[in-house]
Amino acid sequence: MSREYSLTPKRVARVETTYRRIVTKFPVPQSIPVLEKLQALEPVAMRGQPPVVWSHANGFQVSDAWGNQWIDWSSGVLITNAGHGRREIVDAIVEHASSEMLTNYCFPSEIRKRMVETLAGLLPAPLEKVFLLTTGSETVECAIKLCRIHGVLAGGRRKHVIVSFEKAFHGRTLGSQQAGGIPALKEWIVNLDPGFVQVPFPDGFRTEDNSFAGFERALSEHDILPEDVAGVMLETYQGGSAAFAPAAYMQSLRRWCTEHNALLVCDEVQAGFGRTGKLWGFEHYGIVPDLALFGKGISSSLALLSRGGRASGYHGSAFAGQHDFNAHGQSDLLRSCTGIDRSAVEREPDGKRAEDGRHPASAAARVGGPVPPDRTRGWQGTGGRHRVREGGDEGAGRRSCVGRGRALH
Ligand SMILES: Cc1ncc(COP(=O)(O)O)c(C=O)c1O
Repeated sequence: MSREYSLTPKRVARVETTYRRIVTKFPVPQSIPVLEKLQALEPVAMRGQPPVVWSHANGFQVSDAWGNQWIDWSSGVLITNAGHGRREIVDAIVEHASSEMLTNYCFPSEIRKRMVETLAGLLPAPLEKVFLLTTGSETVECAIKLCRIHGVLAGGRRKHVIVSFEKAFHGRTLGSQQAGGIPALKEWIVNLDPGFVQVPFPDGFRTEDNSFAGFERALSEHDILPEDVAGVMLETYQGGSAAFAPAAYMQSLRRWCTEHNALLVCDEVQAGFGRTGKLWGFEHYGIVPDLALFGKGISSSLALLSRGGRASGYHGSAFAGQHDFNAHGQSDLLRSCTGIDRSAVEREPDGKRAEDGRHPASAAARVGGPVPPDRTRGWQGTGGRHRVREGGDEGAGRRSCVGRGRALH
């Protein structure tokens, strides 16, 4: 849990700009009963959220019921890639809800066919199968299972090791946290499965040696033989720091996985659907993984996740594929916003190309500079994903922003 915000309303400077408006004390006195009730009824895991009680949202802006308006730099925690309140999505949801058919798991449907067809059509070979699930963590669990099934079939029970990266975040369930690379998040597990191993992520600053030799060295330090690896999984970019691996490293990793018959898994739950300035994050590396996991921006609204891949193996859930409600909205969204106009996804707001090395979002560029050489403060990232590196007190910048109409998470 991050540090909690005070619920004592304080006077803050009035803000009235084109996109931001702060006209009350903060937190807003009338919002305190809502915040207190949530504190009383929800677990501690839900604390630490900025005390902005959202009432409505549009595009990149969110408003409360008392006249304040923020720029939503959280992007709904990296979900609203197409913006809040996108007309096509709203219309599709309303239209489908009106049909009153909100569930049909055991039976096929035309809408589901349209959805998987649209997704499969967007993915490069060999990502030819699409499986719809319900949370990002579930796609990760599914990938772990498929890697292990693949490994054991290919090389017997020894070939079960899942290699992932230090500092990685893959979700909050048992398997996804073991694949994650943040030790504090898995203390609760106690008896960690030794078949999950993390190696340094080649970000070039926390791990200065970002050559592929570092991957092989780390495996041998863990006493892992390449032939025992069932799969290698990474966040296409590390969400916690908006850090990418070098393309050369990823191309070597792709070759290594093929050579050792291990599945390469890109967790695109954050990186997919245009978040990085390309439709898929792995395009930055010039590779295609064996499995790609999608979430968040896939729907820009309701929960919907998918796994695209070439590997098969049994996995299911009560809600798997049961996304008629979503699929309807999503098919329309996919048609309209990706519609899929790659050139729109790959352009900066001011029309410049994402990869031309400029500082990304223009709003970000106004308040931050390029990443300084020591990388302890400043911005990093590309497309629609950036991280403020604050140095010193993590969270101080975020806390000071929220009272000034910029809602960061
Ligand atoms: C890269 C990545 N993978 C997986 C997840 C887990 O997704 P969910 O919260 O939908 O389970 C997240 C969530 O933040 C994520 O960022």
